[in-house]
Amino acid sequence: MYYYIIANHKNMSSKQKQIPYSCQTIDQNDVEEVVKVLKAPFLTCGPKVAEFEKSLAKCAGVKEAVVASSGTAALHLAYIALGIKPGDEIITTPLTFSATSAGFCYLGAKPIFVDIDPLTLNIDPSKIEKKITKKTKAISVVDFAGLPCDYQAIKKIANKYKLPLVADACHSFGAEYFSKQVGGLADLTCLSFHPVKAITTAEGGAVLTSDVKLAEKIRVFRHHGLIKNPNKGGWYYEIKELGYNYRLTDLQCALGLSQLKKLNKFISQRRQIAQNYRSAFKGLAEIICQQEPKNIKSSYHLFVVQFKTKNRRMIYDQLKEKGIFTQVHYLPLHLQPAYQKYGYKKGDFPVAEKYYQLCLSLPIYPTLTKQDQGFVIKAIKDLIK
Ligand SMILES: Cc1ncc(COP(=O)(O)O)c(C=O)c1O
Repeated sequence: MYYYIIANHKNMSSKQKQIPYSCQTIDQNDVEEVVKVLKAPFLTCGPKVAEFEKSLAKCAGVKEAVVASSGTAALHLAYIALGIKPGDEIITTPLTFSATSAGFCYLGAKPIFVDIDPLTLNIDPSKIEKKITKKTKAISVVDFAGLPCDYQAIKKIANKYKLPLVADACHSFGAEYFSKQVGGLADLTCLSFHPVKAITTAEGGAVLTSDVKLAEKIRVFRHHGLIKNPNKGGWYYEIKELGYNYRLTDLQCALGLSQLKKLNKFISQRRQIAQNYRSAFKGLAEIICQQEPKNIKSSYHLFVVQFKTKNRRMIYDQLKEKGIFTQVHYLPLHLQPAYQKYGYKKGDFPVAEKYYQLCLSLPIYPTLTKQDQGFVIKAIKDLIK
């Protein structure tokens, strides 16, 4: 038995079926694990936190996992640990959610956007090197829609310039790059456990790394910057630098542990749904799907398409009328009002901008039935006739 909630749209007839673009998959085991913690001594700062961290690190093949209250908090902590300061520059993609850049903009650093590859929709490695300056302090990539970036090419550039590589893998937990799990492909990898992601803790996130010192710094800043010193008394701690309360609760970690056991199943269900879309749209000149290069396996957080000639707004609205809720990921960050202060303008990143004009994210989540997906596919085919 799975539970999920779909928001009721005010213009919908109550009898009409509603298909969201994504939603969580919660079963009875998840519920029981959370209830057990509710009856236990620690709701937060208890044993489930370390247990979840250990399981995450093992699953991703890294030495350390540090959980945090959100993917955004995880990104912020990663850049704090790297010592990012005002005036620093971070190379990143414009085709992402604001949190990718906000993580270092909070610290006064500037996003240096690099356009995307038109086929994979990930940062184009061939355009990175010419954006590197003396102020560049890190390269920050996003595995868009769940598809790992070209890590081989990007790592080569990062190594050449001795720059740390941060992966915003908030879309790609469970994805594979040349048989390696996402998590150990960058120096620091950030995950999100928001309900639409591969696994959920309601809100939540994590930083994965094999750098033990960075992990320790992240743990300190997650908990107010607090460093204990038992030599001065069991109660004694010092705060040398102000940190945050970015902790994840034991309730959430218990849910995460239960969800993690189902990660592989969820990813294979998502892959099957993606395969169904690809087969249904094969040979249709109107629909362009994201390319999945050989040896790179997406986790299919999103299934994104582009409509070559049809009006995307019309398709979005017409699908909504039928109870099919799609989404648009994303208005490129350099066009968001909050990023105008960095001096970017329309036309700076034409590949990402063109993608935004044509794109739509179709429903994909483990419990999407074949019948409901068939309904979505038919509705789209009818609209592009
Ligand atoms: C690419 C990307 N990075 C970061 C985040 C932030 O994650 P959270 O919502 O857990 O803070 C998201 C959230 O959707 C995201 O899509």
